[in-house]
Amino acid sequence: MTTPLPLEPIETASRDELAALQLERLKWSLNHAYENSPVYRKKFDEAGVHPSELKSLADLARFPFTTKKDLRDNYPFGMFAVPQDQISRIHASSGTTGKPTVVAYTARDIDTWANLVARSVRAAGARRGDKVHISYGYGLFTGGLGAHYGAERAGLTVIPFGGGQTEKQVQLIQDFRPDIIMVTPSYMLAIADEMERQGIDPATCSLRIGIFGAEPWTNDMRAAIEQRMGITAVDIYGLSEVMGPGVASECAETKDGPTIWEDHFYPEIINPETGEVLPDGEFGELVFTSLTKEALPIVRYRTRDLTRLLPGTARTMRRMEKITGRSDDMLIIRGVNVFPTQIEELLLKQHALAPHYQIILTKEGPMDVMTLNCEPCPETAPDYGALDAARKALAYDIKSLIGVTAQVNVLEVNGIERSVGKAKRVIDKRPK
Ligand code: DLL
Repeated sequence: MTTPLPLEPIETASRDELAALQLERLKWSLNHAYENSPVYRKKFDEAGVHPSELKSLADLARFPFTTKKDLRDNYPFGMFAVPQDQISRIHASSGTTGKPTVVAYTARDIDTWANLVARSVRAAGARRGDKVHISYGYGLFTGGLGAHYGAERAGLTVIPFGGGQTEKQVQLIQDFRPDIIMVTPSYMLAIADEMERQGIDPATCSLRIGIFGAEPWTNDMRAAIEQRMGITAVDIYGLSEVMGPGVASECAETKDGPTIWEDHFYPEIINPETGEVLPDGEFGELVFTSLTKEALPIVRYRTRDLTRLLPGTARTMRRMEKITGRSDDMLIIRGVNVFPTQIEELLLKQHALAPHYQIILTKEGPMDVMTLNCEPCPETAPDYGALDAARKALAYDIKSLIGVTAQVNVLEVNGIERSVGKAKRVIDKRPK
């Protein structure tokens, strides 16, 4: 058995040392944005602030927010802060409507990103000699290439599979015997289903660690995946506007929410209604400011992700609580706020049902109607009695614990469409 890979000195630095580094880098980053991005210069001027006014980390609250709209309004390259010949790579996130959000990296940015994903992979418990199977999509999505460069930087053997071709994924996992998989949690389930379909018990496969992210997933889902696959499952967080995967990542020894790599990204939690900065421990919208990014410095980017900041445990850097959902994923059903992850938690308590689900929203007259489609576990599929009991228990839990009425349908096995990347949990058919 080989030893775990060593930490970087900054991962165990004191809070004071970290804060000093953050302040120095934050000054650089605000200056860089102001001097080299006309969009930021205009935003700062309009808000009546200048980078020289930043004397402490708390002064950041005086600077304006950045939103996805800023990137869209300056599509494609308007927010970049270096000349084109210094840009090594471009990524983009598709978004559901309109133009993609385009982001850029200098060679140094790519280097930093690789280091941070390498740090994330080490935190997950990677060891020298490990093989990493990557099933995040390659291409404009940051998942595949981000994971790839990081795993390589950590000195591991990379198997760059990408998303899709689920049968083949299973074959190569059987044949190449990877130790680590990097994939969305929902696609991990689809791979596990395919293993079972081929008569392979997922718990007997070679995998030891799963590094899952790109979509919200609950601790109950973690427990279900860990048990089924016989692995340790950790949460990796990131977003293209801030970098990609590896903005924050969980440490295997604690599995208590992603540690934010605070030496490169400064986090704040704000009240999403008022924009006011909230103290650590309070729940709100996560906001990030990049501290070292060159091609696309990002100041107070409103992620729309809802969480809270928690003190460090395995590292001195702060953690974020596992994300419950995004403010734009919050469903308002007959006036009740519901996150798909709340439904997921309740679904996972029903062992006769599989962990796949989709929520369909429609209208009957003026009333919202929520339909929850789920599936039986293959082994309980023939047991109509057990399935009906599970269906009723789930509808009861949703009504009594969340406060909304759901029509729960148990479809046939494989009745829910599988995605190869981020799962589509909600189909909203209500007229706009
Ligand atoms: O999803 C980057 C990524 C790739 C992260 C692979 C982790 C692994 P975007 O496509 O820009 O980038 O989507 C970013 O996805 O704002 C969150 O809403 C969601 N998200 C990402 N990671 C997590 C996570 C990538 N671990 C958006 N838990 C973010 C919950 C996540 N949500």
